[in-house]
Amino acid sequence: MNDPGSTVPAATPRLDPDASGLAEAAALLRGGALVAFPTETVYGLGADATDPAAVARIFAAKERPRFNPLIAHLPDPDSAAAEGVFDGPARRLADAFWPGPLTLVVPAHSGTRVCDLARAGLPSVALRVPAHPLARALLSAVDRPVAAPSANRSGRVSPTRAAHVLDDLAGRIAAVLDGGDTPVGVESTVVACLGGPPRLLRPGGITRAALRAVLGHDPARPEAADADRPAGPGMLASHYAPRARVRLDATRIAPGEAALLFGAHHPEGYALACAALNLSPAGDAEEAAARLFGALRELDASGAATIAVAPIPSEGLGEAIRDRLARAAAPR
Ligand code: TXA
Ligand code: MG
Repeated sequence: MNDPGSTVPAATPRLDPDASGLAEAAALLRGGALVAFPTETVYGLGADATDPAAVARIFAAKERPRFNPLIAHLPDPDSAAAEGVFDGPARRLADAFWPGPLTLVVPAHSGTRVCDLARAGLPSVALRVPAHPLARALLSAVDRPVAAPSANRSGRVSPTRAAHVLDDLAGRIAAVLDGGDTPVGVESTVVACLGGPPRLLRPGGITRAALRAVLGHDPARPEAADADRPAGPGMLASHYAPRARVRLDATRIAPGEAALLFGAHHPEGYALACAALNLSPAGDAEEAAARLFGALRELDASGAATIAVAPIPSEGLGEAIRDRLARAAAPR
């Protein structure tokens, strides 16, 4: 990158998850550099959310085609509360799920420190208090909101370990804080609380059933005005995409395809697959979510032209898994 404020070494170092690694990561972030760090969902590509120049570096490093709004990460619910205006449902959801894999889109507080670029000029702000201990320690040390999309190049599969981050972004970011594998494996659930009924903008690590238990009803569907409104079926924006074509709900595997399996029942012909991985032989959606993005990267590396995915039920985290796979399968 040719921008003077950035500190990007030729090779991106991995920082150990200890006091000195955390101190270095925090100092880099406070200085405006980009640092990838683990959350319980996926690795985030962090930048000081109060500094538009730092936030702009995120879009450059990811090669994002447009400035979509980013999630601001805070170390605890009190510091998140200072950035937004929480109505009753937002407060109940925050109380129930923070720290954790939930992002709340709320009206921005008049005194919010999250800059306009991180909010894509919207009057709302997306806030998240992650549960990962390294993320919380880092956010406390930075002592400012940290904007962080998933730490992959735009349109690629989200990273669930430091090596995935380096595959996509080595040489483009100042460092990656290595916290090992991320336990949840799919991104946070995004819920908009902007007056009126809360709307589910993106399924993720908190299930619909868990939201329902707190709200007393199902979250509403997104509206046309929502920044992250999913397009209709067949029009899903291509996202989370491996190089291979992705074929969903495959009940038979063609010879030479790579197979992504789930549960004990295998599609016909899977023995002739050029590579096969089972997300969860026991049919457990949580285990499958944790393995999803790593498995897509691994099967992609087999060189197969197509990854055929066995049917995965949409209960629990299955909804988020199916959402990500549908985006991976969408026309590019
Ligand atoms: O688990 C996660 O959420 C990860 C980790 C790193 O925290 N982050 C992540 O960020 O997935 P990203 O940028 O890939 O997704 C952010 C989502 C997008 O779908 C974006 O449109 C939505 O949040 N979003 C952010 N601000 C919004 C706003 N003001 N209104 C509506 N949607 C918003
Ligand atoms: Mg992403």
